[in-house]
Amino acid sequence: MPPEEPLRSVRLDDDAGALVLIDQTLLPSETVLLRLSSPEEIREAIYSLRVRGAPAIGIAAAYGSYLAIRESSARDWDELAREFRAAKELLASARPTAVNLSWALERMEGRLESLRGRPCGEVKSALRAEAEAIRSEDEAACRAIGENGLSLLRPGWGVLTHCNAGWLATSRYGTALAPLYMGQERGYGFRVFADETRPLLQGARLTAWELDQAGIDVTLICDNMASTVMRRGMVQAVLVGCDRVAADGDTANKIGTSGLAVLARHHGIPFYVLGPVSTIDLSCPTGAEIPVEERPAEEVTERWYARRMAPAQVKVFNPAFDVTDASLITAIVTERGIARPPYGESLRRMAGP
Ligand code: MRU
Repeated sequence: MPPEEPLRSVRLDDDAGALVLIDQTLLPSETVLLRLSSPEEIREAIYSLRVRGAPAIGIAAAYGSYLAIRESSARDWDELAREFRAAKELLASARPTAVNLSWALERMEGRLESLRGRPCGEVKSALRAEAEAIRSEDEAACRAIGENGLSLLRPGWGVLTHCNAGWLATSRYGTALAPLYMGQERGYGFRVFADETRPLLQGARLTAWELDQAGIDVTLICDNMASTVMRRGMVQAVLVGCDRVAADGDTANKIGTSGLAVLARHHGIPFYVLGPVSTIDLSCPTGAEIPVEERPAEEVTERWYARRMAPAQVKVFNPAFDVTDASLITAIVTERGIARPPYGESLRRMAGP
């Protein structure tokens, strides 16, 4: 099972006034805990993927917006609100695709607004409690996603997953990996295939490490081997996380996810998306409106190689996410249940007011 404190992907040390993160860029060779306090440091950690995964970056940003005003000497609510909003804007600009980042910051701002005119001390305590609630609600959501997801799986199945949607990417348990942890407790004996997930290798470095540490049977494959394991009958379900689910069910997730969905359809394998309701963005009508982050060329040409491996002048296209067509998704699993097509209706019922 995922670790107890202090090894959490993200947590608050309120006595020290710091956000404590596992630096995910150093895993699996080193487990280094970072202690960050300023919005600038926390933005950098999110941008550089020291903390990553949609729910985890939302939680980190929520704590970051609280830490930004924790030591403030603002004399009244208006001054405190100005400081909060400057930090919020900075943190929200770190990464565009995962809606959980802006969702968590909006929720923090809503709490601030609900206390308009109140003394600064009271507002600070309320923002700390709100950030803690975002974290603890995510933990409960991940557990429920695990239970709901497990109901779709059978003992002994081969499961393929992409990127890392485990405890490192959330407050605990994960989303796509949560059913695997629950299944392990109950002796399901899953055999998991982890895509390495080029270019940043979240599958090879993080998912393989997480599952191996937990004693779950995991086999690492390169991204281009997914078709082979499917064709050989080694995979009975694909489980992936999500960064933003549009109102029609189109889903943004780590680059490479949409290709897996096409392969799964071809091979007649169910393709499940798992994520908390906070990842559903009903204000985004379709996948076409989801902003897709593009990242530096260096991640493709140099990172992880002893020497640059591509010609110096070659053009590089490095989108960090892709959008999977709703028509390729068998079901979307959240803490509130399992949404099935047509997603326009099922997601509105699940995530609507
Ligand atoms: O760029 P990353 O590593 O933050 O991308 C993460 C993913 O795409 C995850 O699958 C998604 O955020 C869900 S995490 C529970």
